[in-house]
Amino acid sequence: MTVTSDLAISLDGYIAGTDVTLDNPGGHGGEPLFEWIHNLASWRERQGMTGGEENRDSELMREWFDATGAVVMGRMMYDTGEEFWGDNPPFRTPVFVLTHRPRPTLVKEGGTTFTFVTDGIHSALDRAKAVAGNRNVDIAGGASTLRQYLAEDLIDELQLHVVPALLGAGLRLFEGPGQLPRLVEPLRVEETPLATHLKYRFVK
Ligand SMILES: NC(=O)c1ccc[n+]([C@@H]2O[C@H](COP(=O)([O-])OP(=O)(O)OC[C@H]3O[C@@H](n4cnc5c(N)ncnc54)[C@H](OP(=O)(O)O)[C@@H]3O)[C@@H](O)[C@H]2O)c1
Repeated sequence: MTVTSDLAISLDGYIAGTDVTLDNPGGHGGEPLFEWIHNLASWRERQGMTGGEENRDSELMREWFDATGAVVMGRMMYDTGEEFWGDNPPFRTPVFVLTHRPRPTLVKEGGTTFTFVTDGIHSALDRAKAVAGNRNVDIAGGASTLRQYLAEDLIDELQLHVVPALLGAGLRLFEGPGQLPRLVEPLRVEETPLATHLKYRFVK
């Protein structure tokens, strides 16, 4: 069972812009982090749309969808994504949402369920592992959630899609000395006009 995380990040290390709100999930100035994804054929397919670009970026997105058997995310990511994802969210797997605010499980079309977990990151990960079969569990974000899993060295593989943009301000992922696993082994580097895709394994 591999625990992955797969994020879009700016050249200067931000995963969202400033002032993230429900109306502006990517934050002010955060558009370049996400706009390259929206015309990928694999992403459009998961949104119930046709067309889009069939390129290497689209293949990498499809690779993630195919490899992922369950997802863990924070309540902020859920709350800011809920409306956008609609009735047929792109995950098509069980999703476990870390929260302090209990809510009944939501069953969506296409195989996505959202289960709200109030007893911590280990419980969410264990529940995700129990249903992921032989596929990966992905810690989808946001920063607060991922930092907790990194601090406990619970991530095996990290893929960063570095977009060629400088945000200057926003939500940082990597912060705090001593909070991060130390050793990383490079697995893959791929460059496209849209992003540089960097994949690493944390050495346990
Ligand atoms: N660039 C990318 O690829 C990428 C990917 C994903 C997300 N994002 C961005 O990340 C941002 C959201 O990140 P974020 O750091 O603000 O928030 P987050 O990690 O998505 O959610 C944080 C919230 O989750 C709940 N939570 C987290 N850990 C918990 C725990 N151990 N126990 C119980 N509840 C817990 C709490 O919610 P409550 O207390 O309210 O219940 C907390 O306020 C969004 O802007 C999104 O666009 C970017």
